[in-house]
Amino acid sequence: MTKTYAAITGVAGYVPDYVLTNAELETMVDTNDEWIRTRTGIRERRILKGEGKGLSVMGVEAVNRLLEKTNTDPAEVDLVICATVTGDMVFPDTANIISDICGIKNAFAYDINAACSGFLFALTTASKFVESGSHKKVIVIGGDKMSSILDYKDRATCIIFGDGCGAVLLEPTEEKVGVIDALHCSDGAGRQYLHMKAGGSAYPATPETVQAKQHYVFQDGRPVFKAAVKGMKDVVSRVMKRNDLTSDNVRWLVPHQANMRIIESVAHFADFPMEKVMVNIQKFGNTTAATIPLCLWDYEDQIQKGDNVILTAFGGGFTWGATYLKWAY
Ligand code: UT7
Repeated sequence: MTKTYAAITGVAGYVPDYVLTNAELETMVDTNDEWIRTRTGIRERRILKGEGKGLSVMGVEAVNRLLEKTNTDPAEVDLVICATVTGDMVFPDTANIISDICGIKNAFAYDINAACSGFLFALTTASKFVESGSHKKVIVIGGDKMSSILDYKDRATCIIFGDGCGAVLLEPTEEKVGVIDALHCSDGAGRQYLHMKAGGSAYPATPETVQAKQHYVFQDGRPVFKAAVKGMKDVVSRVMKRNDLTSDNVRWLVPHQANMRIIESVAHFADFPMEKVMVNIQKFGNTTAATIPLCLWDYEDQIQKGDNVILTAFGGGFTWGATYLKWAY
């Protein structure tokens, strides 16, 4: 029996217009452009402004662009998965809201929360539905409105993150392209270093949790940095090895955009020259679940059919992983 593969057949993205520069951050918190650029590689990030505007605002833009460029009738879409930590509401899931507004009426839709690894976890989940033959047009969204959970007085977090959303269409093919392999890991012991404490069932919102700033991202950067480098190096090398890949026959490494020094360290270890590494952290910062689809969107013109592509991410949880794709168009 021929195997069915899940191929990415289109990618689209959306970032809000407002550009938050390092210079503006200098006016908000005790930081400076030079520190941010040299320690993280970030020059600016986008922010979604406006009362009542949540992730779905960006998700709808990204999905509508995707439907249009792939000539997809919304009625044909049969599954929508949205990876995020900043859904519009605790429930219902933002995938439902986006589907409703985009006219996707024949799909089931849900969110996945795996922080910065969310897009990869969602892509693997979605690919199983396509490979099994049960679903034929699946949209995977990765998006976050990080500005909604940041304390702009905390220089350890507010300088890194930004808002954005990307989306891909997955369709079945019998050609050996698309998602070929994926390896994912989780370690809940890492939650002490990166989390948002309140707003869930353990610490529901109260005046005290708001006062204690527990509805903001907490990050102890150094241990996260170390674990991110170690985790991504490990999964990238394991996925490449078990698929007989070397940096010579892989065209693109697409790392989560959390810190330029992390990206360079993983690339160096895996022996990728930087011209084979997708980087857009300088203009978007760390958009959590959106970094990888936004990179694919940015570099789409430069990717050729048949290119071997390795995606890798590390994030809160801890969660991490690497995915091997063969580009399908
Ligand atoms: O995306 C999901 C996973 N997240 C990550 O992968 C992020 C991983 N962590 C990081 O990227 C880095 O740890 C940060 C960018 C968050 C911080 O960079 P760092 O090089 O680890 O800085 P640090 O926290 O070790 O601080 C070094 C120094 C400290 O000063 P002293 O104690 O050496 O005098 C900090 O107070 O830099 C100071 N500092 C800053 N100075 C200016 C920390 N943040 C800032 C800032 N501006 N924004």
